[in-house]
Amino acid sequence: MLVLGIESSCDETAAAIVRDGREMISSVIASQIEIHKRFGGVVPELASREHLDKIVPVVEEAFARAGVSKKEIDGIAVTNGPGLVGSLLVGVSYAKAMAFALDVPLVGVNHIEGHVYSVAFENPPVEYPAMALIVSGGHSNLFLVPEPGKYKVVARTRDDAAGEAFDKVAKMLGLSYPGGPIIEKLAREGDPRSVRFSLPRMGDGKPDFSFSGLKTAVSKHVRETGLQPVAEGEEPSQDIKNLAASFQSVVVRSLTGTMERLSEEHGPKTLIVAGGVACNGALREASRDVAARLGVPVYFPSLHLSTDNAAMIAAAGTVKLQAGERAGWDLNADVSMRLQNVDVDDEALRRSRVRYKL
Ligand code: KG4
Ligand code: ZN
Repeated sequence: MLVLGIESSCDETAAAIVRDGREMISSVIASQIEIHKRFGGVVPELASREHLDKIVPVVEEAFARAGVSKKEIDGIAVTNGPGLVGSLLVGVSYAKAMAFALDVPLVGVNHIEGHVYSVAFENPPVEYPAMALIVSGGHSNLFLVPEPGKYKVVARTRDDAAGEAFDKVAKMLGLSYPGGPIIEKLAREGDPRSVRFSLPRMGDGKPDFSFSGLKTAVSKHVRETGLQPVAEGEEPSQDIKNLAASFQSVVVRSLTGTMERLSEEHGPKTLIVAGGVACNGALREASRDVAARLGVPVYFPSLHLSTDNAAMIAAAGTVKLQAGERAGWDLNADVSMRLQNVDVDDEALRRSRVRYKL
């Protein structure tokens, strides 16, 4: 089954052709980072205009690189939420028009579910139940996935997403957007024990994440120590590198500590770590340690598939198309779309011998 995936939920216009949900034939991503950089974050109005400009050439390029003609595809999968409404609408309208013109089935895909399926490439098939940590600029969720397409949120952020925290701290330190890759680079030369930040804990004892207190603690540290943000063209000081390393270390410990604790409780057979923040080497290393202690494999997407892309949307969409799911012509953007949250009977899950494959 050949599926065209389309993604335009935030600041990347992307299209991909995927065979049978696991083989990436082509993947094209037009990033808008350069446009939003000077504003230190994504400007929704500019994003939707840019998607309008890019959607046609990006889809054409995906077909050209794949050497596939439009008549050969069996279906179209498009991200229809969550995300920025203007951005989402560009992809959704385009996908509907194309599905109508080509007379092929269409499915809407939740962007977060797309990130879960980003590990379908270049990894062995996922064994279920799985535990999926999806950490990006817009989301930070830990899902228990009892079987394909079913999700139970076992931890979520109460405020900022992990990637958002990287971006905001970077901005505070005078570093450019997106902050994650820059902080990671500086952290490699810093001492993670130099500034003591405490791990966030919820007053109600729930295992949720919270990163806004940490952001405030970084800001307080900067104020109290008189640390100067990095000026343009200037080499960051050792103090900045130490702060970056200390901040990154708390974020990683918070994410992986929770993943380990909840995995001990729920007994998954596979760990999945995906989303833009999954590019982070320290997070990958700590996740591998957790997986080794639990005795299960951990799958990451390749770096190209960790940030937003359309191959993951095509992979998630293929499962839906194969199950007979079809979107109507009334498919719409849903800015705060959630994943179906299932109730999971943990005992039944542990006893289950059924193995599902992506
Ligand atoms: O998945 P993504 O492309 O977009 C969303 O769905 O949000 O994720 C982008 C986020 C940004 O916040 C960026 O700073 C973060 O991922 N990110 C990183 C790294 N690379 C990208 N965070 C930490 N370390 C990295 N190496
Ligand atoms: Zn994303």
